[in-house]
Amino acid sequence: MTTISTEQFERARQLALRLAGIELFERHREILARRSRRMGIENCSAFEALLEAADQGDERAGTRLVGLVTTNFTHFFRHPRHFTAAAEHAVTAVSERGRASIWSTASSTGEEPYSAAIAIIEAFGTEDPPVTILASDIDHAALDVARRAEYDGAALSTVDEGRLQMHFRPASSRSRWIVADAVRHLVKLRHVNLVDPEWSEKGPYDVIFCRNVLMYLEAGHRENVAERMASQLVPGGLLILDPAEHLGRVEPLFSHRGGGMFALRPAVRPPSVSLRARS
Ligand SMILES: C[S@@+](CC[C@H](N)C(=O)[O-])C[C@H]1O[C@@H](n2cnc3c(N)ncnc32)[C@H](O)[C@@H]1O
Repeated sequence: MTTISTEQFERARQLALRLAGIELFERHREILARRSRRMGIENCSAFEALLEAADQGDERAGTRLVGLVTTNFTHFFRHPRHFTAAAEHAVTAVSERGRASIWSTASSTGEEPYSAAIAIIEAFGTEDPPVTILASDIDHAALDVARRAEYDGAALSTVDEGRLQMHFRPASSRSRWIVADAVRHLVKLRHVNLVDPEWSEKGPYDVIFCRNVLMYLEAGHRENVAERMASQLVPGGLLILDPAEHLGRVEPLFSHRGGGMFALRPAVRPPSVSLRARS
């Protein structure tokens, strides 16, 4: 497919906003055309069919459309100090309350929550720490990859040899590794669309990873999601973004810990009335 018509782009724009809270700008038109070609959508009528199916509520088509405008890019221990900080935070939470819980809100293909699980196992010195990790994404295909938990060299390039031997086992195909059962058991995988008015999974959480997803969302959705995350954190809980991201209007609820990490100020719980999702 060489181009996307103005009408098709407008329809894609409205669907991305409605289905995933994602805002498309004119520059995305070319990206959409390029990625559609790569995903085997060869011509305008195939693209039109995808739009129609997504519009009619076909969840796979909707996810495919969202996948055309976002990326699943991630890898193990992306920004390693986030995982050290999350594990230290969990150790403190367990010493205070006996349990800790972590949510990876846009977990993509699983590298982020499994990195957190490895950091937790290492910090607690046991394969059975009193910590749960929820990993969620809007993309069913990405969640399926996370469920298989088998990765290649690109995803694993930041995993050192010691960790590889300790927390993975070789897969049958060459240069691929499977995450060890003890690590997988700590992670619960679920489908969650962050802009849905209700989240099926409820906190409170000690640590929330929300890295590289807010940036796709339309400004109102972005602030609303960040505010609802604040409501899901325990006082003092840690919200972790990519170091290049920021919280905008919601930032005063947090104290900035640097490197994309924000701790919920204990005294300022957002009033529940302002936490309602946009309809
Ligand atoms: C670039 S990946 C981020 C992976 C990981 N958090 C990291 O930073 O390495 C972005 C993910 O956001 C997910 N996503 C996009 N919109 C979403 C939404 N409305 N709700 C939940 N996940 C969403 C995409 O499916 C994709 O897997």
